[in-house]
Amino acid sequence: KHLLKTELPDAEVIVVSNREPYIHNDVDGEIRIQRPASGLVTALEPITRACGGIWIAHGSGSADRRSVDEKDHVAVPPDAPSYVLRRIWLTDEEVEGYYFGLANEGLWPLCHIAFIRPAFRAADWQHYVAVNRKFADAIVAEAKSPNPLVLVQDYHFALVPKMVRESLPDATIITFWHIPWPNPEMFSICPWREEILSGLLSSSILGFHTQFHCINFLDSVDRFLECHIDREHSTVTTGASTTLIRPYPISIEWPAAALAGQPDIAGCRKAVYAKFNLSEDIRLAIGVERFDYTKGIPDRFRAVESLLENHPEWIGRFCLLQIAAPSRAQLAAYQAVQVEAQDVARAINDRFGRDGWQPIILIARHHDAAEICTLFRAADLCVVTSLHDGMNLVAKEFVAARDDDDGVLILSTFAGASRELLEALIVNPYDIRGMGEAIHQGLSMSSDQRRDRMRLMREMVAEYNIYFWAGRMLMDAARIRKRQGIEKPLD
Ligand code: G6P
Repeated sequence: KHLLKTELPDAEVIVVSNREPYIHNDVDGEIRIQRPASGLVTALEPITRACGGIWIAHGSGSADRRSVDEKDHVAVPPDAPSYVLRRIWLTDEEVEGYYFGLANEGLWPLCHIAFIRPAFRAADWQHYVAVNRKFADAIVAEAKSPNPLVLVQDYHFALVPKMVRESLPDATIITFWHIPWPNPEMFSICPWREEILSGLLSSSILGFHTQFHCINFLDSVDRFLECHIDREHSTVTTGASTTLIRPYPISIEWPAAALAGQPDIAGCRKAVYAKFNLSEDIRLAIGVERFDYTKGIPDRFRAVESLLENHPEWIGRFCLLQIAAPSRAQLAAYQAVQVEAQDVARAINDRFGRDGWQPIILIARHHDAAEICTLFRAADLCVVTSLHDGMNLVAKEFVAARDDDDGVLILSTFAGASRELLEALIVNPYDIRGMGEAIHQGLSMSSDQRRDRMRLMREMVAEYNIYFWAGRMLMDAARIRKRQGIEKPLD
């Protein structure tokens, strides 16, 4: 907030994402507000609350229209409004083509190495273009100044920067790509690769989580577009416009808002153990994610099997509690991973379970941030073994929840977070045996070791929190704006 005031005094902030920060649902005639399971929303919401401005998103809740009383603008957060949520209404066909089709059956598997074949259908692309245009038009309509600060989020809107630039040439457009960027060979299979690259390159700044993803992006541009790439300064110049390509590892609010009102660690443990009927001598591991094939949930279960096979002393003394929020469930690949995870869990529970104990508890429902925080505080271990992940904020949320400095994090080497949380037990999620051994190591670790590791991870997340992430991007944006002011004073 302070930075915006001093460095970007006249900037009007417009955030754009597909997922809205507050979803109003109709539950038996009553409106319930849900916070979505989305890393993007987790990260962006505290920033938008602090900066004010407007957030444009797709209205997806069953009572969204009713909640805004047939108006498109609603003040949020509901209990203490500090910014405006502008909802964009999409038809079922648009949602089908743009969101489920191009974004989640095309770009999502294109960018994540999970061995799911991307599907590229011309009709989906047409919807994607049309929906990007709808959002770009809304940004232009909402902008009160000629040079707003537009924060475009994620793979749903690759074309928005170019469309906005056409109407608002002086806008500062920061686009953040929340998922990995593939290497040029992989990217080349996308039939609309040039359109996507040039759409993104109308941004003033294009951010990724890691340097590696920036390099993949620059290599893709190098391969498919005519432009000048300055690798030393990490810029791409096409015609008169230059885009800065930089890593900004995303993070979370610190201290975590979900910590407020939490019982102490012993209290959390007691509540969770009672709720799940766990006997006191059981060591608890927790997994929390959307039910997505990139998260490696079935392989994590197989790792539990490997643990119990190779270290039978944990039979009857270890439990993995897996929370999996239903996600994109109308897509075949998502249904398949749910069925697979349930089958694998059942087989392992049948094989090892005994009266009153089973090694895996799988709960496929959405949990709110406070419930998850309690689970993190009750657990001995948190297991984040994604097959591929841009950052993974669950890992950072676990660290933030442990104000007792205890708890072990097991983290996939293919999650961006492993570049920062070096004191986690880093695993290869394709190596089932190795993951099982890491769980054993985590369970056997001395309390001193656990605390030393957790303290270092907490220092890291506390310092490089979400305000740091936004601050670095805004500072870069401020420099660009000042430079533009020198080159071309605004009248
Ligand atoms: C990832 C994406 C976000 C998305 C979230 C949840 O974190 O990067 O853009 O919001 O998944 O997925 P959903 O499709 O439910 O929005």
